[in-house]
Amino acid sequence: MPLQYDLLFSENAMSFKKSAIRELLKLTAKPEIISFAGGLPHHDTFPIPHLKEIVADLLHREGKKILQYSTTEGDQSLKEELCKWLAKDGVSVKPDQMLIVSASQQALDLVARIFLNPEDTCIVGLPTYLGFLQSASAVRGKMVGIPLDDDGIRTDQVKDQITRLIKEGKKPKFIYVIPDFQNPAGVTLSLERRKHLLKIAEEFDIIIIEDSPYRKLRYSGEPIPTIFQLDQGRGYVVTLYTFSKIFLPGFRLGWIIGPKHVIEKMILAKQGMDLCTSLFTQAIAREYIKADRLDGRIEKNIELYSKKRKKMLEALEKYMPKIEGLKWTKPDGGLFLWVSLPPSMNSDRMFYEAIKENVAYVIGSAFHCDGEGQNTMRLNFSYPSEDEIETGIQRLAKVIEKEKEKTDKGLNNVVPQSP
Ligand SMILES: Cc1ncc(COP(=O)(O)O)c(C=O)c1O
Repeated sequence: MPLQYDLLFSENAMSFKKSAIRELLKLTAKPEIISFAGGLPHHDTFPIPHLKEIVADLLHREGKKILQYSTTEGDQSLKEELCKWLAKDGVSVKPDQMLIVSASQQALDLVARIFLNPEDTCIVGLPTYLGFLQSASAVRGKMVGIPLDDDGIRTDQVKDQITRLIKEGKKPKFIYVIPDFQNPAGVTLSLERRKHLLKIAEEFDIIIIEDSPYRKLRYSGEPIPTIFQLDQGRGYVVTLYTFSKIFLPGFRLGWIIGPKHVIEKMILAKQGMDLCTSLFTQAIAREYIKADRLDGRIEKNIELYSKKRKKMLEALEKYMPKIEGLKWTKPDGGLFLWVSLPPSMNSDRMFYEAIKENVAYVIGSAFHCDGEGQNTMRLNFSYPSEDEIETGIQRLAKVIEKEKEKTDKGLNNVVPQSP
């Protein structure tokens, strides 16, 4: 009799769901497909020659130290460099309010672990970052979605929902937002709404989790203060940063800033996860910042990605069919934009048609905690070349046009088949 593993797994493990999106993304791996599906920074932005110099020098000078175990809190000298770097963005914070993490996904896992009991609620955007949905689901937290518009999450509805949840005895623990160039929608939370969110947090005594991987990748418009800055040290905000989109995703390196009490709890949780984040990558990042190269690197990223964003917006304008209800966001930064189809259309089923035409996107429903959003999709513009963007959008426009015709004729009621 084979071992019944399912009888041994924890309830949390049994609640893990196989990600439909992973299965779909496997279909996008063929070389002939132009993929707008990933969220990858472009490899041309990786500063390989500088890294070679830094690594050789570091191994020579500090090899015995940086290849060792380290503290869970993170390397003090990296934290000091990061505090100086954040100060340039108006964020005033001390090293003991900071925790170095193995990139933002670990930060999200820490947030879920220290705040959510099974069935505890939190507020998220509709849509929101898929990786957070996974972290919160892993501890059996419940997410309550609030729609977004061009100014980010609808804070008026946040307040109404919290009031309703409190009446039902399900007061949320926190509000999770990605204020700058949100993944997946590309929209930015306005200053008024940032202030409103803080007011709500204060009124109801809950915390705001501000996830900020894209903030420095701004291509147009003026920066808006972070919610952390607006809070002015009152302790209502925890902000998550990562090197993934501005430096190197392969380093798996990020940092969290927040009230000391929260940081201390996170340190305890992190100890049981990985003891410490690699000191080797922390030391390389520290030297890179110290050599004053990070801002220059980000400038170059901005130059590259803003051209690609422009190209995608122009191609959408040029090729998309004139269909009522078909629209897309025009992000001021980040890596993504968000397309909405008329409500009668379904991007989940259209995905297979797109794959047949050698173009891919991420289905919008994957970013909806309520399973809605079937008429939406996320497009990434940082990874494909400008030529690929032009050709890919042309292909996608054709797919949308054909699908619209089929929908209008009522021919879309059959379950789609994987090609
Ligand atoms: C909003 C958001 N948060 C967190 C992450 C995780 O990033 P990483 O773990 O590479 O730092 C991503 C990655 O795409 C993201 O878009």
